[in-house]
Amino acid sequence: MMAGARRPGRNFLFVPGPTNVPERILRAMHIAMEDHRSSDFPKLTLPLYEDLKRIFKTRDGQVVIFPSSGTGAWESALTNTRSPGDKMIAARFGQFSHLWIELARRHGLEVIVQEEEWGTGADPARIEEALRQDTAHEIKGVMVVHNETATGVTSDVAAVRRAIDAARHPALLYVDGVSSIASIDFRMDEWGVDLAITGSQKGLMLPAGLGIVCASQKGLAAMKDAKCARSYFDLADQIRANATGYFPYTPALPLLHGLRKALAMLSEEGLDNVFARHRRLAEGARAAVKAWGLKLCAKEPKWHSDTVTAIMVPHGFNGADVIDRAYRQYNLALGAGLSEMAGKLFRIGHLGDLNELMLLGAIAGAEMAMREVGIEVELGSGVAAAQAEFLGTSHAKETRIAAE
Ligand SMILES: Cc1ncc(COP(=O)(O)O)c(C=O)c1O
Repeated sequence: MMAGARRPGRNFLFVPGPTNVPERILRAMHIAMEDHRSSDFPKLTLPLYEDLKRIFKTRDGQVVIFPSSGTGAWESALTNTRSPGDKMIAARFGQFSHLWIELARRHGLEVIVQEEEWGTGADPARIEEALRQDTAHEIKGVMVVHNETATGVTSDVAAVRRAIDAARHPALLYVDGVSSIASIDFRMDEWGVDLAITGSQKGLMLPAGLGIVCASQKGLAAMKDAKCARSYFDLADQIRANATGYFPYTPALPLLHGLRKALAMLSEEGLDNVFARHRRLAEGARAAVKAWGLKLCAKEPKWHSDTVTAIMVPHGFNGADVIDRAYRQYNLALGAGLSEMAGKLFRIGHLGDLNELMLLGAIAGAEMAMREVGIEVELGSGVAAAQAEFLGTSHAKETRIAAE
């Protein structure tokens, strides 16, 4: 379809971020600009920090909201707490863990990379071993991407914390929660996370444009000796201004109003229900993949992500063709294979403001697009398997009913 041509009906947005922005949030962002130094402004901002702390599940942590995407939050977490030459450990198992490592290196950090097969995640035993060997405590931090969006893999952050503790090592724990926080359970305090980051365009159901950092007390203490250059992303400037409800520079006003609404919606639904909904939807997507006879990129159930399903296309096919066909023919946006996974897979993002029927639409569209590029999946098989999953009935029973 030519750019600009009218495309009737709705766009099915199933990339794993940006996600659908609900009408209520769109309306909340549709505001006249206001004076961000007015005496009323803190009434909007101060409760945002308190409510975000509930999302991160922290009592003593400090939340800062930057006008940036998640990448800015990565940069802020590292530069505010580290000095050039500091050693870090990071597991690499996908494009986002890779990019975070590269960012750290550009700031002069020495990153010890633990390569893990793409489709798996961080290995707590390997991390523990490396920390045990570091008797001089030269390693200053462990970096983990909680949910690797590129491969649909969730790592066990609690197990990484146990590994650090078992090694009796003082390294800080840095966690990327861009595609997990507000969709998959995340427990800043319980898991002893020191720096957690996220962005606005996934579980928070907003457009991209807010980079959110949450620092533990230990994380904040590390700021004192950190020598990495920082200016725009300086946490101290923010914390000082935020204390009274203001910002060190002009904030992204509509996004803050949208965030106010998003946090209210998450609280209305209840965080546990939000996580359960994401689990249910993900199980529907995984049932569809199984019915298609295809494989997930995630190698084992313990790596399954509840926010994104990455589906390997059979040998001889290109995932990019499926994505292109789905987009042109059905106005369905699926996620691409990135870097090492380019062409080998396509991804269905199922996070944020989403329900069963929306996901069934994407599964139906993926089926048709696959058939059109020659992948022989049975039409309706994925849809039926996901329906059965949502109804809580077994796919085998449904097949039997159909045969009778
Ligand atoms: C896990 C993860 N980390 C980091 C990023 C980078 O965030 P942003 O694109 O908001 O800068 C993304 C983006 O999709 C992501 O999925």
